Amino acid sequence: MKKIFFLLLAIISICFFNGCYRDNLKELKPQAAACDSVNTITYQSDIKAIIAVNCVSCHSSKGGTQPYFDTYPNLANYSSTELLAVIAPGANKPMPPSSPLSQSDISKVKQWVNGCRPYGKVVVTPCDTSVAMSFSTNIASILTANCTNGCHNNVGLGHSLLTVADVQNDTFIVYHNISSLVYSLIDTIPSRRMPLGRPELSACQIAKIRRWVLEGAKNN
Ligand code: HEC
Repeated sequence: MKKIFFLLLAIISICFFNGCYRDNLKELKPQAAACDSVNTITYQSDIKAIIAVNCVSCHSSKGGTQPYFDTYPNLANYSSTELLAVIAPGANKPMPPSSPLSQSDISKVKQWVNGCRPYGKVVVTPCDTSVAMSFSTNIASILTANCTNGCHNNVGLGHSLLTVADVQNDTFIVYHNISSLVYSLIDTIPSRRMPLGRPELSACQIAKIRRWVLEGAKNN
């Protein structure tokens, strides 16, 4: 009888816990079992490039340093506590040894771990495109992070996309019609898809740019 009572108690508390878990996803994030369901960072879109640029020269059969991080299973199966520990600022054995990851890369790896290290798009991306897109609020940050840092900035390769006027007057975009800006992001030919050689923009980012373009690519 006592056993049945405890069993019931256990079942009730599990149900209760799950209820709380759904309501308070954020507070419970550190719980090992809870995957952050609003996570949008995936191996395919973000983490692979970060690791390729910063770790694989050493951590691969070519580089010869274990653990190897040159494939998704190798990285995803490695202890995430350990992974986060070595990239944290002030780590005991900081990785990469001489040039730490940027704060934004570290936070991406953290989000990826919190999301239970997804390979590709496995979660619904919350994306609010219900309001009109404003260049300064919604679009500029996407261009800054993905287009004008290193390339489309008057200095690097590629025409400038620094300002709305640059985007509107860009000869390539004008010639091909402003929607070519959106098309360049979804082009299936890798040598033409922007950002060139970098991870694709997320569906949400592309949707925001598309909406801004459809509304006339305004300086708003
Ligand atoms: C220049 C070469 C180099 C690069 C680049 C590099 N590592 Fe390492 N890594 C090493 C070496 C060497 C060791 C072994 C150090 C030791 O055990 O003292 C190591 C050890 C590790 C370990 C194991 C630590 C332990 O305590 O066993 C992890 C995890 C790790 N690196 C992660 C990374 C990650 C993640 C990156 C990229 C963000 C990275 N490393 C970039 C050379 C490198």
